[in-house]
Amino acid sequence: MSIRFDDKVAIVTGAGGGLGREYALALAARGAKVVVNDLGGSRDGTGHSDAALKVVEEIKAAGGEAMSNGGSVTEYEQMVEMVAKAKEAWGGVHILINNAGVLRDKSFSKMEIADFELVVNVHLMGTMKPIKAAWEIMRTQNYGRIVVTTSSSGLYGNFGQSNYGAAKLGIIGLMQTLKIEGQKNNIHVNAISPVAATRMTENLGIPPEIFEKLKPEYVTPGVVYLCTEEAPTGAILTAGAGAFALSRVVETEGVYLGEGGLSVEEVRDNWGKITDGSNQQAYFMGGEQSAKFFRKMMES
Ligand code: NAI
Repeated sequence: MSIRFDDKVAIVTGAGGGLGREYALALAARGAKVVVNDLGGSRDGTGHSDAALKVVEEIKAAGGEAMSNGGSVTEYEQMVEMVAKAKEAWGGVHILINNAGVLRDKSFSKMEIADFELVVNVHLMGTMKPIKAAWEIMRTQNYGRIVVTTSSSGLYGNFGQSNYGAAKLGIIGLMQTLKIEGQKNNIHVNAISPVAATRMTENLGIPPEIFEKLKPEYVTPGVVYLCTEEAPTGAILTAGAGAFALSRVVETEGVYLGEGGLSVEEVRDNWGKITDGSNQQAYFMGGEQSAKFFRKMMES
């Protein structure tokens, strides 16, 4: 049976172009009513345009339902207003894709504090604020599907992107707690780590024949799956060029070094055991790490 969103209202931030536009078009094509949010700025976050309006026109021309929103994800009041308008028009908010983003790349030694703050503000605070604006509605509905956007730069690092990487992994920290707090109200929170040819990646020196294979629409099925009723929670889906995988944080089983002989040398001498990945695990919540430490202490 094909997946539909006929009774669902979705908000996609930064949906005036690139990946967000694809998500908005795909959700609308499957019956969702979609708020297309976009400030319409340039890649570095300056300026404004009516990018969101154009995507709404595209959706309507294809027979779908959509409204545009030119608010900035960094302005909480504007996000509250956006959510209120969606609820007023369509009765709720069921899906929120946090996709808006900007870049200010520089090596850390040349990075201005202002560029660091701006990028963290747009990505991290600009993910938290739309979620905060929609959270109580989702709790009351007992239903919510939230997708946040991370990046391989946040998960693993990338030269020149200390600001962006810090923000993108901060978003995973936000997801990890919201997935726990949302559980009892059927709010699932997942992350997408996309790779796609957009204006964000066009100056990175990717050869044209490879760039051509990284169409944003190849990422879309994974993101749309994370918006479905059967979506998991707390997953970090990675996607690009038609390939999909899961990224997860794991912790090794480690070693109990006891209370008596604890020393720096013991840590050095046991580094192999501390880092041995053979029984490593991915935890659902932080307390599982402490539980392991106590178990190891009791076992010794
Ligand atoms: P894009 O530049 O085409 O899309 C970002 C959109 O966000 C733009 O339309 C922009 O106007 C909008 N935006 C920026 N600041 C905003 C604000 N304050 N309020 C509302 N909208 C705002 O870039 P792309 O590639 O489509 O990026 C989408 C998301 O995917 C971003 O979060 C990006 O960091 C992430 N990403 C993209 C990758 C790629 O390979 N393209 C790789 C990893 C992550």
